[in-house]
Amino acid sequence: MRIGIIGCGAIGTDVAVYADTMNEIEKIYLFDIDKKAEEKLVKKIHKGKCKYVKDFLDDVDVVFKAASQKAVNECAEIVLAAGKDLILMSVGSLFDDKFRGRLEDIAKKKHCKIYVPSGAVCGIDGILSACIDKIDEVTLVTTKSPKSLGKDFDRRTVVFRGSARDAVKEFPQNINVAASLSLAGVGFDETRVEIVADPVATRNSHKILAHGGFGRLRAEIENMPNPNNPKSSYMASLSAIATLKRITNPIQIGA
Ligand SMILES: NC(=O)c1ccc[n+]([C@@H]2O[C@H](COP(=O)([O-])OP(=O)(O)OC[C@H]3O[C@@H](n4cnc5c(N)ncnc54)[C@H](O)[C@@H]3O)[C@@H](O)[C@H]2O)c1
Repeated sequence: MRIGIIGCGAIGTDVAVYADTMNEIEKIYLFDIDKKAEEKLVKKIHKGKCKYVKDFLDDVDVVFKAASQKAVNECAEIVLAAGKDLILMSVGSLFDDKFRGRLEDIAKKKHCKIYVPSGAVCGIDGILSACIDKIDEVTLVTTKSPKSLGKDFDRRTVVFRGSARDAVKEFPQNINVAASLSLAGVGFDETRVEIVADPVATRNSHKILAHGGFGRLRAEIENMPNPNNPKSSYMASLSAIATLKRITNPIQIGA
């Protein structure tokens, strides 16, 4: 398999370095608007080559995007129109219903797939299964230090309670987790979000609570920051790598 990576930052680097060790991956094309990031990464791997997206697109099976929401808007349609599978980290771009609908239409027409790694949350597999039947409620409780939310509280304070769609407008830094949960389950308007500023919190944590016909679900994660970008959770890189392995693996585990 040949892969193109757009975005050679913290997550792109983790994925490229791992992909370099995978027997199933024979070539890794790299693109970043920051040429220094591209050059730094290509030196770390053996199967890598730096090229513009339009120059590697014909030669890849899958494109992995870990750049920015803007980058998704700029070239997701081009990748899918070329009939290539796409793995998206900037899931927040899929909040736009019209844009998401366009991507789905192209993917169907071109028989390719859009993969959304579960990112910095856990429990997405349970939500995917549970919503085959009726789910009464899905809530995401995100807890961060007041500083990382741009606040200055000295006690635990709920700073937002509402729909995932509104949470993202007020707290865009929470966008990816809320988006993957909404897409897996009951959508952006029905998914409830609570954002908590807690001075005791040393790590970003996400808790998913759901109940419905299946029973009750409670999944919680406390994330270590990515050593190369403290704003990204290391788990996001691991979930991206797990998605890549899933694509190459004949045995598909989980919902
Ligand atoms: N799904 C999740 O749970 C989750 C978790 C963490 C991060 N993310 C998202 O993943 C993305 C990458 O995160 P990161 O920690 O690696 O960020 P990062 O800042 O370390 O790296 C991003 C890289 O993308 C490059 N870039 C920006 N715009 C570009 C463009 N238009 N074309 C090509 N390259 C471009 C930058 O130069 C940078 O090197 C971000 O959009 C972030 O929001 C998702």
